[in-house]
Amino acid sequence: MPKTSPRSDWHALSRALHWLIAALILAMAWLGLTMGDLPNGPDKIATYALHKSIGLSVLALAALRLLWRLYAGAPGAVAGTPRWQARIAGVTHVALYALLLALPLSGWLLNSAAGFPLQWFGLFNLPALAGRDEALHALAVQAHELLFWTLAGLVVLHAAAALYHHLFLGDATLARMLPRGWLRAGGNPTPENHDA
Ligand code: HEM
Ligand code: HEM
Repeated sequence: MPKTSPRSDWHALSRALHWLIAALILAMAWLGLTMGDLPNGPDKIATYALHKSIGLSVLALAALRLLWRLYAGAPGAVAGTPRWQARIAGVTHVALYALLLALPLSGWLLNSAAGFPLQWFGLFNLPALAGRDEALHALAVQAHELLFWTLAGLVVLHAAAALYHHLFLGDATLARMLPRGWLRAGGNPTPENHDA
C-alpha cells in the first residue's frame, strides 16, 4: 500500500471497518464450514441464503474499505520497525485486501454457475456473473475453498504479528488499530503511542 497519511493513528472509520469485517469473516467461516452438514430443509436453505447475504456485505464493505484506504492513506509503521518487516506487512495487507474481494466474488461465481438465484437479505436480486455451467461451478467451488484457507492462514500470521508487536515489542501497532483507550501500548513508547 503506497500511500501513507500524515496521521500517526488509524482513522475511526478504518478501525471500525477493520473489526467489523474481521467479525463477519469469523461468522462466515463458521457458517461456511457447518452449513453443508445441516439436514435438508428450510433451515438449510435459510442458512445458505444468510451465508450469501453476509458474504455480499463483506464484498461491499471490503470495496468501501479499500476506496477509503486509497483516499485517506495509512499511518506509517511505528518507529523502530525494520524496513523488511514493514515490507512484509505491506505485502500481507495487499494480499488480505485481494482475498477479501476475491473470496466473496468466487462465492458469487459458484452460485451463478450452479444456476441459483442470488438475493441480498431477500431485499433485492443480484445478476448472475455467469450462465449455468457444471465445470465452472466445480472450479469455482474449489477456488472458494482455496481462497478461504489462504485467507485463514494469512489472518493467523497477521494476528500473530500484531500480538507479537504488542506483547514482545511493546509498541503501538495493535493499540492504534483498536478503539481509543481499549489498550495501551507496552513499555517501548514511540511517538505514535501518544496518539493511540
Ligand atoms: C467473505 C466471504 C465468504 C467466506 C469467508 C466464505 C466461506 C465459505 C466456506 C468456509 C465455505 C465452505 C467450503 C468447504 O466446503 O470447505 C463456503 C461455502 C460456500 N459459500 Fe462461501 N464464503 C464467503 C462468501 C460467499 C458468497 C458471497 C457466496 C455467494 C454469493 C458464497 C456461497 C457459498 C456456497 C454456495 C458454498 C457451498 C459450496 C459447496 O460446497 O457447494 N460464499 N464459503
Ligand atoms: C479476518 C480477519 C482480519 C482481516 C481480513 C484483517 C485485515 C487487515 C488489513 C487488510 C489491514 C491493513 C490495513 C490497511 O493497510 O489499510 C489490517 C491491519 C491491521 N490488523 Fe488486521 N485483519 C484481520 C484480523 C486482525 C486481528 C485478529 C488482529 C489482531 C489480533 C489484527 C490486527 C491488525 C493491526 C494491528 C493492523 C494495523 C497494522 C499496522 O498499523 O501496520 N487484524 N488488517
